Amino acid sequence: MDWDALIRTELDEMVPYAPGLRVSEVRAQSGKENILKLSSNEYPAGPVKSARRAMKAVIKHSNRYPDGSARALREALCAKLGIQPECLAIGNGSNELIRLIAQAVLRPGDEVVFAWPSFVVYPMVTQMFGATAVRVPLNEDQVHDLDTMLAAVTDKTRLMFLCSPNNPTGSIYHRIAFERFLAKVPEHVLVVVDEAYFEFVTDDMYPDALSYFDGKRPLVSLRTFSKIYSLAGCRIGYGIMPEQLRLALDKLREPFNVNTVAQIGAFYSLAEESEVERRKQENQEQKTYLYECFDRLGIQYVPSQTNFVYFMTEKPVEVFQALLEEGVIVRDFGTAPALRVGVGTPEDTVVTIAAFDAVAEKLGTF
Ligand SMILES: Cc1ncc(COP(=O)(O)O)c(C=O)c1O
Repeated sequence: MDWDALIRTELDEMVPYAPGLRVSEVRAQSGKENILKLSSNEYPAGPVKSARRAMKAVIKHSNRYPDGSARALREALCAKLGIQPECLAIGNGSNELIRLIAQAVLRPGDEVVFAWPSFVVYPMVTQMFGATAVRVPLNEDQVHDLDTMLAAVTDKTRLMFLCSPNNPTGSIYHRIAFERFLAKVPEHVLVVVDEAYFEFVTDDMYPDALSYFDGKRPLVSLRTFSKIYSLAGCRIGYGIMPEQLRLALDKLREPFNVNTVAQIGAFYSLAEESEVERRKQENQEQKTYLYECFDRLGIQYVPSQTNFVYFMTEKPVEVFQALLEEGVIVRDFGTAPALRVGVGTPEDTVVTIAAFDAVAEKLGTF
């Protein structure tokens, strides 16, 4: 069988997404019973109580297909966001929406501009549909360089991803820079702003894309229930986009792309505004303890607007391994001189700081 003839050549160079290490693997390797997984930017507390209750109750209806248009959640989201239902797409994670958008707009030979380092799925979907990735390095503060990204736009540019806040650095560009960018970006470019972590942001200068959405300009805001709402395992995210684009996504998506448990969990989570605020405050406070630890140990880091912190190290392989031996899983990036650590509960922070102290003792410097 000639598999090369069968499978699309675009896939040759692609590598599957590599998830972080699993807790069970690390437990077996390290011999430690308590393992702290801080590698996938999940929120540690789990779904809110009302969502848990509703999700449990709905399981017995799993013989039925889900509501293909997620009507109840759609109405609740539209009321909350002040948008029209025609402009809302709900996906099996925001990840699905990233892929569907790429599938809807990209032709072979098109160019896709995004910052780097940023979310690994952008180059994956670019390649998947035969387009060319144009990576624009973050500036020296590890922030999107929007002017250089604009300068990278050509007649072939079809799509641009802005990750705000950016994964893995946790950084944001400011409102002034975004408004200058929006005023100049050509109309033939679809701008997708990935706001997976926007609920964690505390900086007043943060421009959320929804504020600039008018239903006409080619602008999309993508959000998720995977992070502050702690529903990553259920897979549900949403996108606010012009109606024409949402219609295209409806043609491409599976008819029942978002499962019932995810829909009900998201619906109940949405009402829990005070709990979301509490999580945001707690996350902010825990970050300050991590910063204090990093300052004390002389570790350089990027101030973060998210639930993770990107820190510099000259020996990422050794530090990653040494943290593993302490039972803490962080995220590595191959050869990059940096690692990313998630922010956990107050108890997790105590364990994280102890692990960094132990690694400093063992390795001397970072
Ligand atoms: C920037 C960014 N966008 C999108 C996603 C995907 O989120 P979801 O779980 O909604 O697919 C992630 C997940 O880590 C992310 O970091």
